[in-house]
Amino acid sequence: MHKLPRRVAVVPGDGIGPEVVGESVSVLRTLNRIFSLDMEFVDFPWGAEHYLEFGETLPEDAVEMLNREFGAIFMGAMGDPRVPDMVHARDIVLGLRRKLDLYVNQRPIKLLDQRLTPLKDKGKDDIDFVILRENTEGSYVGCGGWFKKGSADEIAIEESINTRKGVERIIRYAFSMARQYGYEKVTMADKSNAIRFGHDLWYRVFQEIGEEYPDIEMQHLYIDVLTAELIRAPEQFQIIVTCNLFGDILADLSAQLMGGLGLAASANLNPGKVSLFEPVHGSAPKLAGRGLADPVAAILSGQLLLGHFGLAEYGAIIEEAVRDSLQQGITTPDLGGHSTTQDVGAFIRKRIEELADEK
Ligand SMILES: NC(=O)c1ccc[n+]([C@@H]2O[C@H](COP(=O)([O-])OP(=O)(O)OC[C@H]3O[C@@H](n4cnc5c(N)ncnc54)[C@H](O)[C@@H]3O)[C@@H](O)[C@H]2O)c1
Repeated sequence: MHKLPRRVAVVPGDGIGPEVVGESVSVLRTLNRIFSLDMEFVDFPWGAEHYLEFGETLPEDAVEMLNREFGAIFMGAMGDPRVPDMVHARDIVLGLRRKLDLYVNQRPIKLLDQRLTPLKDKGKDDIDFVILRENTEGSYVGCGGWFKKGSADEIAIEESINTRKGVERIIRYAFSMARQYGYEKVTMADKSNAIRFGHDLWYRVFQEIGEEYPDIEMQHLYIDVLTAELIRAPEQFQIIVTCNLFGDILADLSAQLMGGLGLAASANLNPGKVSLFEPVHGSAPKLAGRGLADPVAAILSGQLLLGHFGLAEYGAIIEEAVRDSLQQGITTPDLGGHSTTQDVGAFIRKRIEELADEK
């Protein structure tokens, strides 16, 4: 397999994107400098401002250029009230997912500080799992249309597309990830009792692929049961794999279990190829430019980026530094603290320097 270039395309985007990406890229630059990781960062201005000025969302040659020259894309968020139809966000966020075939949306859920979970009697050992969301198909393909739109007889049809190839590769990724990283169990959630065709395919493929991994325990749950179980007994989960729509919803619910959207990181992967890393949250326009945005979700997305480059041991240093910032109460107001976005970033970088000295 050809070696992935350690070049990162940085797309700060809209709203709080530039602030949180600024802190996260500084964290990555700190590690790059201390450990000579040979990473390079190149900025791209794509987002609402660029669209309003030049009428361009994603340049025509962007996908080819990213594939050719980069190993990763680091993105803030897209969404600006001045672009109400969100055309730039659709082209950039969904466009890249589709055109780069980023079929795995990986969202780690890990409680880093006991005080941050709203669940009574649950601790760090109870909330530690990964959600793998299928990222290119399902209900998000935009396949449908209206008939008699705007009338009392309106009909709206939205198809959910589930291909054998698409379902198989995300489920196979879940099992191979389990084996590679020592997880013992994979849970698959669908609604095959009611969504009879598409989710029957999910059910059958899960059974078939699971047979190839006799060392990994399989659990099948209907999505409604899974949402209840995530609150009642999250400690039973290690890897959860599900479709695009369910994964989207589960990830926000699960982010609350670890302290909220300000902490939730994500990777959009085409394993072994150029992949995209971003915080789960959006552009939070009301917080923009005020130093109120929590940079931790973006900083932990940087940890995932290092894992993609085969540098997980350095990613672990980021996690340790974030854990220390939470423990010492160096947090933004979403977590009850009084620190600014920039204070939190600076603390984490200082802590990384100290941890590096100790190693
Ligand atoms: N991947 C993406 O680019 C992406 C994802 C979700 C939403 N969006 C877009 O972002 C815009 C705002 O959407 P929304 O309000 O539904 O979701 P949002 O994630 O921006 O905000 C939801 C809530 O969480 C808070 N929040 C989010 N990130 C935070 C952070 N880092 N620190 C502290 N608080 C934080 C916000 O203040 C708000 O109360 C919309 O245009 C939406 O379409 C983009």
